[in-house]
Formats: sequence, C-alpha cells, structure tokens
Amino acid sequence: MGDDVSRAIIVIFGASGDLAQRQLVPALHSLACDGLLTQGLRVVGVARSEFTDESFREHLYAGIDDYARREPEVCQLWEDWSEQYSYLQGDYSDPETYRRLAQRLEELDAEADTQSNHLFYLAVPPVVYADIAECLGEAELNRNEGGWARIVVEKPFGSDLESARNLNDRIHAVFDEEQVLRIDHYLGKDTVQNLLTFRFANAIFEPLWNRRYISHVQISVTESVEVGRRAGYYDDAGVLRDMFQNHLLQLLTLTAMEPPVRLSAEALRDEKVKVLHAVRRPEWEDLVVGQYRGYLDEEKVDPDSQTPTYAALRLFVDNWRWQGVPFYLRSGKQLEQKVTEIALQFRRVPHLLFPESESLAPNRLVICIQPDEAIHLSFEVKKPGAGMRPAPANLGFSYVDNFGEGALPEAYERLLLDALQGDASLFTRADEIELAWELMEPLLDKGDPFPYEPGSWGPEEAEGLIRGEGCSWHLGCLDRPGNNAS
Ligand code: BG6
Repeated sequence: MGDDVSRAIIVIFGASGDLAQRQLVPALHSLACDGLLTQGLRVVGVARSEFTDESFREHLYAGIDDYARREPEVCQLWEDWSEQYSYLQGDYSDPETYRRLAQRLEELDAEADTQSNHLFYLAVPPVVYADIAECLGEAELNRNEGGWARIVVEKPFGSDLESARNLNDRIHAVFDEEQVLRIDHYLGKDTVQNLLTFRFANAIFEPLWNRRYISHVQISVTESVEVGRRAGYYDDAGVLRDMFQNHLLQLLTLTAMEPPVRLSAEALRDEKVKVLHAVRRPEWEDLVVGQYRGYLDEEKVDPDSQTPTYAALRLFVDNWRWQGVPFYLRSGKQLEQKVTEIALQFRRVPHLLFPESESLAPNRLVICIQPDEAIHLSFEVKKPGAGMRPAPANLGFSYVDNFGEGALPEAYERLLLDALQGDASLFTRADEIELAWELMEPLLDKGDPFPYEPGSWGPEEAEGLIRGEGCSWHLGCLDRPGNNAS
C-alpha cells in the first residue's frame, strides 16, 4: 500500500475553515507519519480568505500541532511535507476559480506524476455544495482521461427529504454515483467498523442477535458540550437533523443489518438500506424532545426557539429478526458525560430458580464506541459462600488494554484513505441518505421541547418512553467501579 494511493491531488474547498484545519489536514499528517501516504500526494486548498502558500502552511501546521494524533514534533515530517500543500484563493461560484484550478491541477499532475487522480473535498457550507459540483462540471474537472475524479460531500447532506433529493440530483447531473462519497464520520470510527467484525467474525454472538434473545436495544450518543459557536447552524438543524438522521441511524443499521454476502461497498450498503426499509415509520408518541436550560440565551439562537437539543426515539425494525424488539435511540447536548454506546439487553431467564431472582439484572452486551472504547458483557455468578445467591459480574474487552494507547486512528484518517482508494463502503449511498431523511421527516417539526438541566441526563419525560419496557436508560459503559452515573 502507499505509492498508488498517494498518487493523487486532494482539492479541499473550504481550506481556511475549521474542518480542514482540525480534522482533514491533521488526519493526512497522521497517515503520512504512519507511512500510509507518501510524498506523491499533493493538496490544493481553495477558499476565499487571503493566504499565501507560506501563510497557508503555517495555518495548517497550527492545526496539526493541536489536533493530529501523531505529534509533528515526534514524527518530524512536516518540514518536507509542507511543500505538498498549496493555496488557491477564489470565489466558489466564479468560473475563473475553476479555470485557475484546472491549470494548477495540470501543472501538479505533470510535476508530481499524480496520474490525473483528483479528489475534490467539499468542506464548505452546504449551500454551496451543488454550485461547486456544477462548476467542476463546467470546467470539465468531473472526468479525467488518464485517472479518476471523485467528490467528497460533508454532512449535513440536505436538511430534509426534498433538499437531499435535490442535492443528489444536482450532483448526479455532474458526477456518477460511484464518484460520490458522502461523509458520515461515525462510519470512520474504528469502534463502529468493529460492529461488523464483532458480529460476523464470531460464531457465539450472532445466534443470540435477534428477537428470541434480545428484549431491546439502546443506542446512546450523549454529549456534554453545548452548541457554542455552531449555534447559528444548530438552531436551524436541531438534534434530529444533526445527529439522528445520520450518526444514530447509521449505528442502528449496523446493529440491525443481516450479514452482507461479501465485504464490498454495494453488498454492505444494500444490507443497511434493507434495514431502513424495514423501520416502521415512527409516530409522534415515539419521540420525546428536550432543550437544555440556557440554550435560548446562546448567541445566534432565536430567543423563542423550539429547536430540540435532546431527543429520545423508539423505533421498530419490522422484519423476521427484529419483530417486536424496540430500539431506543437518544442523543443530546449539555448532558452529564460524553458517551457513545450500543447496548443490547437480553431477555430474562424463563424460570426463576434462585432466591432474589426477581431483582436479577438482565444480561447486557454493551459496545462502547467512545470515549472508553470497549465491550462489556454482564451476567450473574454465584455469590461466594452459603446459599445460592446471584451476584452481577462482567466480562470485558478494552482497546487500550489489548492494543495499547493511541492505537485507534481518527475517523477522518480512515475516511480519507478510503476515499483515495476508491472504497465507498464507509460512505453513505444516495438511496440510503434519502431513506434516512424519509424516516426522520415526519418528526422534524415536533415542537414544545421539555426543558432539562445542563449536566443532567436529559428531560425526565424521556424515561416515560422506555419505562413501558420495564426498564430505564442505562449507560453500561459507565458501569466501572467507582462510577455511579447511569
Ligand atoms: C457532528 C455534529 O456530526 O458530530 C456535532 O454536527 C456533534 O453536533 C459531533 O458534536 C459529534 O461527533 P463525535 O465524533 O465527537 O461524537
């Protein structure tokens, strides 16, 4: 690996922005430090801000220094690598920008033997996605004689079903679906990809992974941060567009899908799409929305805003495997802790044999996506001593213990590498994204969010949603000695 993948030019639109500085360029740097990219690669940053090549590189270095997994001081690569980065100032809707870009690409293709492989990365506000795609088409940069051209589109991809369809249509008028890579950075997380390995490389879990043994599934993506400087965007979006339509539904599809016939982008995405088809259209009673106290005082938030910063949603997947098993999804800002986990709760034993059996905790399999990447299986053992009293115990696997500190790459490292390799497995397909919008659409207007305290676990009312199941929200990843949050 290495040489061929690096023989390309990445064009980052929005190169002066946060995403490029904090994620994309640090990711490229760490990949290079790990030897996965070579000096064949060229990166052209396009944006409206004023930069020289030199000041652009300094700006990027600050991001690498602060955010890269591989520290530049240790890896000592930037001095040689910085030369690969150049800047092109221009307006995104001005054909002149694309004329100059085409010329720059031609020069770099010749100079660095990049074989006319071009990856266009849209790290810009969504309103200009389609314009940029069309301008690339007009400049004939959407097709390459000798190499490939691909376009990476960031999230949010649309703000409802109609806008997502419209965006797909406009992009498809210029690029074929095989050339389009829609980002959901959760798919770039190793612990999310591990769902596939865990489920399909082991014989012992899959037989239990169905309605016969699982009583319900909880998918939690709790965040402690407030909306902060993204308030302007967030107040239009809210948690359902920002987190559910993409990240939470992706976690749901990977948990619920059937084994794909092979590990190819199409086979994998076909199975995820089947799950989305099988999800029963949720009703308003399946949703509880909340808003943290103080949200209305945030800068750029409408003082009368009804935007939810928290949501809890019950979904059912109507197929043979999952009929009748509720999937509870929740996510919110300003909650007590940041935790992303998928917890499968097993059914209770059919016959109660032991004293105190009524209070037996059900078995749980908890997949901790972040920040303490791990997997826990909880079960009962005999309490030592007289009698036959059960006591809870845990089997655990932790990434740090097994693979060491820092073994997990950042999501964008994997996604950029796959984009260069042309592997679309971890990118969202057009039909998938539209189906996800179709599912969320009826819920988007639910107003009157319940208030909740910052630093809590969300509004009380969210408990009501899950109580019917005879249980409560539970974060298994926090079940460590000394940790009594839930
Ligand atoms: C982004 C959302 O897609 O994901 C943010 O727009 C959210 O609001 C973020 O904070 C969470 O990502 P992660 O990787 O920190 O869980």
